[in-house]
Amino acid sequence: MAATVSDRLLDWYDRHARELPWRARPGEPAPDPYRVWLSEIMLQQTTVAAVKPYFEAFTARWPTIGQLADASEDEIMAAWAGLGYYSRARNLVKCARMVAKLRSFPTTEKGLRELPGLGAYTAAAVAAIAFEQRAVVVDANVERVVARLFAIETPLPAARSTIRTCADEVTPETRAGDFAQAMMDLGATVCTSRDPKCLLCPLVDTCQGLAQGNPARLPVKAAKKDRPVRRGEAYWIERDGAVRLVRRPSKGMLGGMRALPDDGWAARNDGSGHRPAAGVWTPCGTVRHGFTHFEIELSVLRLEMPLQPGGEGEWWPIAELDAAGLPTLFAKAARLAVA
Ligand code: ADE
Repeated sequence: MAATVSDRLLDWYDRHARELPWRARPGEPAPDPYRVWLSEIMLQQTTVAAVKPYFEAFTARWPTIGQLADASEDEIMAAWAGLGYYSRARNLVKCARMVAKLRSFPTTEKGLRELPGLGAYTAAAVAAIAFEQRAVVVDANVERVVARLFAIETPLPAARSTIRTCADEVTPETRAGDFAQAMMDLGATVCTSRDPKCLLCPLVDTCQGLAQGNPARLPVKAAKKDRPVRRGEAYWIERDGAVRLVRRPSKGMLGGMRALPDDGWAARNDGSGHRPAAGVWTPCGTVRHGFTHFEIELSVLRLEMPLQPGGEGEWWPIAELDAAGLPTLFAKAARLAVA
């Protein structure tokens, strides 16, 4: 089965690979490791469509890892704003500086694993795609393809080790990078979560999930707990066409990002914080935003303030708010306050 799977899939990839800005065409020399690494960090937990404009903007502004390493963390965090999971951006800066010091990326999976922000998946992906090493690359798309191909009945996440063993079994000795990306493309375009297009699939003859009749039910997932909802308040404090912004502490939710002042919801779940100033606060409505482990419902309150509020912060011109790099939650809150 192994040879058939990789041959068929690579043959399919040669004809149907998606053209993505960080990729070489199938069979062409591997792309610049910087571009592969950057794209893989951006693609963690984020869709290809959302990543494309950020990838283009980053590589236009910082064409080499040396230039990225020389940029300030503030600039990079602001350019990252909107992509979410901001610890990725902080690790990106650390990693760029480490690689600039080393003068090049480590070329093995093991060496890559030691860089900040590179977990098992990313190290394997960069080793395979940028350095053409045989590595077993398993992301959510690959998990789905493999669970169906081998009709794995164990629910996720317990199935992960079996899925990995099966993925290893079908990974070829050469073209592992193309193979990994072919699996990803197959998962994204053909072997989709709902309504897989089995008639278009190069693995239609070998898929045990299909042979059993209903591949869409795989992978089986353990019942999900509902995400709890936290409630909090965010404050729009305005003076002379400027709004008060703060820098969030570097550790914790949205760490290091510019933000509206808030009541400390990130550290608790009951909405018991206090407001940064006394005055007549006008409610502007609420925004909701999903994080990995909870949802936040943030009430936005507005205050015209003639005085300087206490604590650290800066007055930011409202007309230039786009350049502040607010993370999505606070960008939503700001839209509500200025509406
Ligand atoms: N998701 C993560 N890495 C990817 C890649 N290299 N191509 C397509 N989708 C991906």
